[in-house]
Amino acid sequence: MLVVGGAVAVQSIGPAAAAETTLRAAAAKAGLFFGVAASPNRLYPIVGQEFNQLTPENVMKPDTLATSSGGLQNTSGADTLVNHAQSNNMLVRGHTLVWHSQAGALQGASQATLNTFIGNAINRWGSKIAYWDVVNEALEDNNTGRRRNQWPHTMNRDANGDGDYFDSGDTDVIRDSFIRAKQVVQAGGFTTKLCINDYDVEGLTVQGGTPNRKANALYDIVRNYRQYIDCVGFQSHFNDNPNSIISSDLQANIQRFADLGVEVHITELDIDDDLSNNDIGSGQAENYRKVVRACLNVAKCTGITVWGISDSESWRSSERGLLFTGGNGSYQKKAAYTAVLDELNKGRTVSTSSVPTSSVPTSSVPTSSVPTSSVPTSSVPTSSVPTSSVPTSSVPTSSVPTGGGCSASVSVNAWTGGFVVSVRVTAGASTINGWNVRLTLPSGATVTNAWSANRSANSGTVQFTNVSYNGRVNAGQYTEFGFQGTGTATGLTPVCTAS
Ligand code: XIL
Repeated sequence: MLVVGGAVAVQSIGPAAAAETTLRAAAAKAGLFFGVAASPNRLYPIVGQEFNQLTPENVMKPDTLATSSGGLQNTSGADTLVNHAQSNNMLVRGHTLVWHSQAGALQGASQATLNTFIGNAINRWGSKIAYWDVVNEALEDNNTGRRRNQWPHTMNRDANGDGDYFDSGDTDVIRDSFIRAKQVVQAGGFTTKLCINDYDVEGLTVQGGTPNRKANALYDIVRNYRQYIDCVGFQSHFNDNPNSIISSDLQANIQRFADLGVEVHITELDIDDDLSNNDIGSGQAENYRKVVRACLNVAKCTGITVWGISDSESWRSSERGLLFTGGNGSYQKKAAYTAVLDELNKGRTVSTSSVPTSSVPTSSVPTSSVPTSSVPTSSVPTSSVPTSSVPTSSVPTSSVPTGGGCSASVSVNAWTGGFVVSVRVTAGASTINGWNVRLTLPSGATVTNAWSANRSANSGTVQFTNVSYNGRVNAGQYTEFGFQGTGTATGLTPVCTAS
């Protein structure tokens, strides 16, 4: 199928690719990870066979790991999982640093102590953790759109009383925890990406079409702190709570977060199979299919994790929400498993190679146009763990080495009337201590927001310079910044100068 509108944005032509027979292989071919939450006593062969990402279900939470002064303790379970992931070629999502629940000895701690713990935990495993959930469940239940009033959010202070915590005089545990985490990652030279994770934030609306205020609040947080936040986790514990349904606007909500330039993950997926008291859809397998398809249709949705292997071993066993029955290492596939595998094997509908910068938005790809015989367009080899960034809708437009010790390349993710540009600054043969990237935007294009860089202007020729924490780039290494804008962003030729 070709979507014509001045640009080709979708491709699903070609012969059917041979279907993969494991979730991890099918996902890798489609350019995302498919993971599982696990515990050290449940590392059965199925974990490495079916999944290429692992989240510690409990052993990397503060109640296991943290001492009251922010030190580390009881790291052996986490080590076991990280080592298992490494030897099975799986990514790790670290879970979780700042959380009101399972806080253990950190309950009631100050920001300074949280910062100590954040530093110790990130440094302990470094780049072995591909993604860390820095802040978990910051927002209140019942679709109020407010922060929780439990610790650590009781430390938040709205200095000017304007109803948010985004002003420079405000105290915000989310902002401060991410700033600390970003500093630690930068100082250590780690590739770890930093995520915020929550539940009931999956759709644009909740039951009955009411706006999802919790999702909107999360969106505002990510937009305001985009320079520190790399990824957003939608927990996706779907059940018959009116705020926990699978709404038809799930994909649109994933897309709007992706349009901020962050990766999106489905982090804790389970789907209640009891449909008697809810409107979540037409059966568990079909519901799994919908969720997987919504992710596949958004290029920056780069991973899905199910919250456990089998129903009986799930934290919510009565909902029978997972992909396998059985237990203790002996598992049987459910219809939901087959549906997920089949959907993954269809691949993404977003082209990796032919999306021009003036393309139609990927969010306009109708879910009903899912091809049955598409060729996955991103060709991550099935045997390899996907990289943590799968920019399938972006097109690197140039890479211009300069004599000044750095080079820059851009990738553009565009839709009608808007764009997000990611810029990679790579140091040459020597370490640099500052950088300047000059870009000329086409007439009519305006920058509305930028992260991880200062900018000299919003239109025409714009100079982007490093911020305090990303000026130093070691020889051959890179850092990234980005910006968002209106209009079109074609023909960008970045020129990098090191200082
Ligand atoms: C759950 C675990 O699955 C349980 O074993 C534990 O008793 C409680 O926590 N949101 C999260 C996860 O972020 O950490 C929770 O995991 C489930 C809800």
